[in-house]
Amino acid sequence: MTTIISLCGSLRRGSFNGMLLRAAIEMAPSGTAIEPESIREIPLYDADLEEEHGIPPAVERLKNRIARADGLLIVTPEYNNSVPGVLKNAIDWLSRPGDDIARVFRGRPVAIMGATPGAGGTGLSQAAWLPVVRLLGMRPWFERAVLISDASKVFDSEGHLIDAATQRRVRAFVEGFAAFAGAQRNQEDTKVSVAAVGIREGVMASDPRGRVVTTLRMGEAQ
Ligand code: FNR
Repeated sequence: MTTIISLCGSLRRGSFNGMLLRAAIEMAPSGTAIEPESIREIPLYDADLEEEHGIPPAVERLKNRIARADGLLIVTPEYNNSVPGVLKNAIDWLSRPGDDIARVFRGRPVAIMGATPGAGGTGLSQAAWLPVVRLLGMRPWFERAVLISDASKVFDSEGHLIDAATQRRVRAFVEGFAAFAGAQRNQEDTKVSVAAVGIREGVMASDPRGRVVTTLRMGEAQ
């Protein structure tokens, strides 16, 4: 199973980005689960809080979830031509302490999509996420884009994605990113199983006189 953690950058109940995320979850291909995680419990970043109390439990939990996932899907509104502060705040916490960035983010597939009732489709917000994604060492997927403008016309009053062209675009995006994230995971699995075979052979191998050469072979496997 390919697991993709998703974060929505809007907290409001009637969020168009929340609706977009729900559509993406429904369109996930078989073998892929898009699992939404809330950022609501994450406090405002405060270095004094971090120094005195460490990483808040909600942040630690989300870090671990992302670290175990095959990919991250960011569903972002655009505020003042840039990223929404609540989600930037969450990512800032998730990047602490800095020496844990590699475990949580480095090499992890990431895709970004967004919706706005305005005309620009969140293009500036999506672009504004890129320096963050780059700094964290993530692996962005750029083969398709979902930039939804006039969101009040593509979702109905119950939050369903009703515009057929947008449905097709979202489906293709989700399928493409799921394949990308799944392929990365398979590569990692191959590396792990090659290492495991090396270790197993090391345990079982012996030199011509029948002496076990475990240590040497295990060192090679690493
Ligand atoms: C906005 N909005 C907005 N929209 C946009 O397309 N470009 C922008 O730069 C901004 N800037 C902006 C700033 C602030 C402070 C607010 C509150 C709103 C409108 C925004 O797209 C709209 O509120 C969306 O509905 C927010 O996304 P959700 O909550 O529907 O997911």
